[in-house]
Amino acid sequence: MNHKRITIAIDGFSACGKSTLAKDLAKRLDYVFIDSGAMYRAAALYCIQNRLIQDGELAKEEINAHLTRMEIHFEVMEQELHIFLNGNDVSNEIREPKVAEIVSIVAAYKPIREKLVEAQQKMGVLGGIVMDGRDIGSVVFPNAELKLFVTADPEIRVQRRLAEMQSKGIKMSIEEVRQNLAERDHIDSTRKESPLIQVSDALVLDNSKLTKEEQLDWVLAKVKLLVTN
Ligand code: DC
Repeated sequence: MNHKRITIAIDGFSACGKSTLAKDLAKRLDYVFIDSGAMYRAAALYCIQNRLIQDGELAKEEINAHLTRMEIHFEVMEQELHIFLNGNDVSNEIREPKVAEIVSIVAAYKPIREKLVEAQQKMGVLGGIVMDGRDIGSVVFPNAELKLFVTADPEIRVQRRLAEMQSKGIKMSIEEVRQNLAERDHIDSTRKESPLIQVSDALVLDNSKLTKEEQLDWVLAKVKLLVTN
């Protein structure tokens, strides 16, 4: 049977397991997986490299001239998604604390969002895509066939992010992780440009007590209904 290749939009706060779910789903469905947060992180790294963050603020007058020079793309290598910034693989560097500390400031800036949203929409024109982020169901793919809003208990998110950092050999205390997540939640959900919202047609998935497999099965059951109808 020829199944329809749909668009799946996954939104939620940091460290809710969105990317894990998106990656697992894309693998099972043989869809493209795009971690849109990685694109904002790459943009933040570009700003650091080009000294466009001064005293914790974005040098807006300067950044506009840089926007056309910032090239971000993905490549799949050994079944893993890698992100490139101006030709360099920055997949590991974008996870470092120096990026996490300022990414919300960069992601709140409209011209950066416009550039990245345009690129994201191009990647999704053919369907068969799972994208995770903050504005995927609201702005990037408002017509997505399946929209998910993923949540998890705040302390569970802290533990997950800490484990992720440790597995990457990045040193951060539990208090630093807790504070960084709280700050980013606040900026991401209160910013003027495309704040994180739960759109009315999104299904809410609280995965605090679910295993990776259980949440995947839950979503696959929803997908099955959509692609066979
Ligand atoms: O998902 P993440 O933690 O890697 O996201 C990094 C930052 O980028 C986070 O502060 C929110 C922002 N972001 C966004 O504004 N819009 C998206 N679609 C994805 C991420």
